[in-house]
Amino acid sequence: MSLYPSPAAHTVADYERAATERMSDDALSYIGGGAGNEITLRDNEAAWRRLALRPRALGAPAGAGTGVELLGVRRPHPVLIAPTAFARLTHPDGELGVARAAAATSTIMCLSTFASVSAAALAADVPDATRWFQLYVLADRGATRELVSAVAAHGYEALVVTVDRPVLGIRERELRAVVREAEALGHDRPIDTSAVIDPQLRWSDIEQLVADSPLPVLIKGVLTAEDAHLAAEHGAAGVIVSNHGGRQLDTVLAGADALPEVVDAVGDRLDVLVDGGIRRGTDVVKALALGARAVLIGRPTLWGLAVDGSAGVQRVLEILLAELENALTLVGAPRITDLDRSFLTAAPWAGSAR
Ligand SMILES: Cc1cc2nc3c(=O)[nH]c(=O)nc-3n(C[C@H](O)[C@H](O)[C@H](O)COP(=O)(O)O)c2cc1C
Repeated sequence: MSLYPSPAAHTVADYERAATERMSDDALSYIGGGAGNEITLRDNEAAWRRLALRPRALGAPAGAGTGVELLGVRRPHPVLIAPTAFARLTHPDGELGVARAAAATSTIMCLSTFASVSAAALAADVPDATRWFQLYVLADRGATRELVSAVAAHGYEALVVTVDRPVLGIRERELRAVVREAEALGHDRPIDTSAVIDPQLRWSDIEQLVADSPLPVLIKGVLTAEDAHLAAEHGAAGVIVSNHGGRQLDTVLAGADALPEVVDAVGDRLDVLVDGGIRRGTDVVKALALGARAVLIGRPTLWGLAVDGSAGVQRVLEILLAELENALTLVGAPRITDLDRSFLTAAPWAGSAR
């Protein structure tokens, strides 16, 4: 496939613009919004741009490859699809369309607990998609256990336990849209996700979950060395440095800024992944150079979905992967494992116009 099959959409930002033109105000508020003043939401993207690359010449054969090892398994590349609830709000293809795009690009898809399709239906419909399951631990622990055994039985390969949502962040754009969102999904009342998630979850519960789970457990929503250590002590296989796309607590650190302390704390023991504001292949290179094993993208997949259903998601992934391959060659890292912090420096333009 040629690098740029569509003259109209060359970048993730092109998809964002096109999605913004197409989506209803309510869907836009739900997807695009963040908590509070949306400072963290904006900074998620800006923080990657505050890093400049220090390329090394004549080190890398072109196209040396993007392969990585994740949870002990070799994968063709380090970009994953982050869990996002209710994808059918964005396009009728919904999660099944996202899964088809994931399968076409050998991308791991992480299905949300609040997906608009069941874990079983997705596995049956798109068996080729490598899939992880994002788990909100429910107040009903029996139901949580049943969910975990069901996803394991349906070929999901890891559990991503989200810990940064004991309560919902105050998302003002979303608050104004919530009633119509429920209508779009065919419910007659707003979906009260908070009523089912356990707000009292503790690290001891995580330890129990790890002990009971047939799947490796990653903890999503870690922003500090302290929590990274606790995740390791309680048996997690990995952590995802994430602020939930700026949707939970405003003014927490961006993923790019929280990542180094987490890598320094547990990078020798756990797989550390990161999400938030990844929009370019160079952002992926920077995350890997800081010590992440892989990255996840949230909104970019939804923008692709909004514009062109499954084909749009596939194109967004292809754009990012082509940019990643290009950036790896140009930065002079023959393999992803050759990347380290010597490839980065604080950008002299940080704080000025970006
Ligand atoms: C519309 C939307 C829904 C989301 N739903 C979930 C969810 O159900 N579970 C979860 O752990 N994270 C959820 N997230 C957070 C994403 O998994 C991810 O952390 C975030 O979107 C990454 O930032 P990015 O959108 O800048 O790539 C959601 C994000 C968005 C934008």
